[in-house]
Amino acid sequence: MYKRIEREKAVQYDYARRQHRTAYGNFFATVFVILCGGAIGYYWGQSGVRPPNAKSTTPLADTVPPKHDISEANMEAAWTDFRDIVGRENISLERSELESHSGSSWSSHPSQPGDVPFAVVKPANTVEVSAIMKICHERRIPVTAYSGGTSLEGHFAATRGGICIDFSRMDQILKLNKEDLDVIVQPAVGWEHLNEELGKSNLFFPPDPGPGAMIGGMVGTGCSGTNAYRYGTMKDWVLSLTVVLADGTIIKTRQRPRKSSAGYDLTRMFIGSEGTLGLVTEAVLKVTVKPQHTSVAVCAFPSIRHAADCVFRVVGAGVPIAAIEILDDVQMKCINDAGSTSKSWKEEPTLFFKFAGTPSSVKEQISQVQGMAKKSGSKSFEFARNEAEQVELWSARKEALWATMGKMEGEDMAVWTTDVAVPISRLPLIIEETKDKIARSGLLGSIVGHVGDGNFHAILLYNKTTEFDKAHTLVHDMVKRAIELEGTATGEHGVGLVKRDYLPHEVGTTTVDAMRRLKLAFDPMCILNADKIVRVQMPAEGEVEEW
Ligand SMILES: Cc1cc2nc3c(=O)[nH]c(=O)nc-3n(C[C@H](O)[C@H](O)[C@H](O)COP(=O)(O)OP(=O)(O)OC[C@H]3O[C@@H](n4cnc5c(N)ncnc54)[C@H](O)[C@@H]3O)c2cc1C
Ligand SMILES: *[C@@H]1O[C@H](CO)[C@@H](O)[C@H](O)[C@H]1NC(C)=O
Ligand SMILES: *[C@@H]1O[C@H](CO)[C@@H](O)[C@H](O)[C@H]1NC(C)=O
Repeated sequence: MYKRIEREKAVQYDYARRQHRTAYGNFFATVFVILCGGAIGYYWGQSGVRPPNAKSTTPLADTVPPKHDISEANMEAAWTDFRDIVGRENISLERSELESHSGSSWSSHPSQPGDVPFAVVKPANTVEVSAIMKICHERRIPVTAYSGGTSLEGHFAATRGGICIDFSRMDQILKLNKEDLDVIVQPAVGWEHLNEELGKSNLFFPPDPGPGAMIGGMVGTGCSGTNAYRYGTMKDWVLSLTVVLADGTIIKTRQRPRKSSAGYDLTRMFIGSEGTLGLVTEAVLKVTVKPQHTSVAVCAFPSIRHAADCVFRVVGAGVPIAAIEILDDVQMKCINDAGSTSKSWKEEPTLFFKFAGTPSSVKEQISQVQGMAKKSGSKSFEFARNEAEQVELWSARKEALWATMGKMEGEDMAVWTTDVAVPISRLPLIIEETKDKIARSGLLGSIVGHVGDGNFHAILLYNKTTEFDKAHTLVHDMVKRAIELEGTATGEHGVGLVKRDYLPHEVGTTTVDAMRRLKLAFDPMCILNADKIVRVQMPAEGEVEEW
């Protein structure tokens, strides 16, 4: 009996154990099947069609239109957040300010009524800019940056609404390192003011774009100016940048040494990025020693071709002049009529030369250039009599656009400034052709340019109601011609909204696709100055001009 019970117990025990084991077995079998299934699924998934962002570039066809939230509720809630950062008095909702922060009368992009921001926000420092960007990032609010507002191609038009960040309260020169020849500045320091300050230490900062331009915007457009022939462009004068990215992250591109091979050159990537990749809140700039002596000469020619020929000769001979500027007969008349200088000048195609160096080197350069000008058929060679006249002449050149705008009569008129550059040997050809076309169009248009670099502008006045197409065709032909001559759609003014569709022709579609990838890598939601430089969504039908 005892034994039987023992045997039954053993059988029961064995049964129970087996049961238990089966349950375990089932459990492990299930886990095994799930894991295998997952692994196979993953493998299939990976070996199948890859997601679009596995490509190295972002073709336009792969883009999805950015989704922003500029609903009244969101903007009003954001206003409260901004107020907590910069204070009520540093946010503007005034219509006139919204308009002046999204367009200008000198911009070649005609302002559209909807292109205004909801508010202009004025931060005081990098941390505030970062806090503002964090809010915009979270609330998907588009942002345009604004420094001097002198850019020309619709650069800060608020095509997507949102807010404009005005840097005007960040206008300090933070530190001049005289021994190191560098200076640390905030974005709303103007280049003219900076040079006044540097002059006290016998130093100077060469990039000289439009009067009123500021470091933030100068980095934005990668500007140059009359001094670029001798000293190079903004790209050559920035050592390091502090930048606030789209999500509010703060980065500093590098330290202060004159050279560095440490990694990707993010400094240069931000220069010329037109506020589409990040916001510059501090810059370390190189400075240089002021030349000992300068002299300015004005030289008139019988035709624009003669003047351009002279440029080609002087540049080809490598005479180390500081600048060569061209101004055609129309521009000289505008300058005379505007009374920009105390003296009246011959209304003929003219070159302005600037010489800089030691007194003896300047003397030598002058005699060389004078000889070449004569060989190119110059009619006169006059000097500024003193420093005041030099400054006056040079500012007349810098304000050429405004002198031409002085000819606009009535509300219907508008100005279109355009900018191209070609290899220097092609310069005489394209300048002459452009001049011819302007004359045949019947529009009032002048030609000016930093011709030492093969860079020149046409300034066209047109009646908005009747002559827009004429102006448009002239600009289109000029840009197309420059690109055909292996030149560029913009030598210095930048792309903005107006030159976007020329980029694929100039650098190639795949290159533009790579630029678009860069844009989306730094700003995946496209909240920073969307639509500038590269398109971020397919254009509407007919929006892109035929080539
Ligand atoms: C009469 C006249 C003459 C000119 N002559 C020249 C010339 O000789 N050479 C030349 O190169 N240009 C010239 N320009 C064009 C203009 O002066 C330059 O493009 C200049 O660099 C713009 O600086 P800004 O401060 O006015 O920039 P803004 O117009 O304020 O901005 C320019 C771009 O940079 C962005 N931006 C502004 N601030 C920041 C920031 N802090 N961080 C990131 N992005 C920012 C803006 O969103 C915009 O896309 C001239 C313009 C005029 C009106
Ligand atoms: C707003 O800007 C002004 C001028 O820069 C400044 O004095 C003031 O303190 C700012 N307000 C706040 C709350 O930061
Ligand atoms: C511009 O064209 C319109 C339409 O022809 C005309 O009424 C107007 O007077 C023109 N304006 C100027 C300044 O020429």
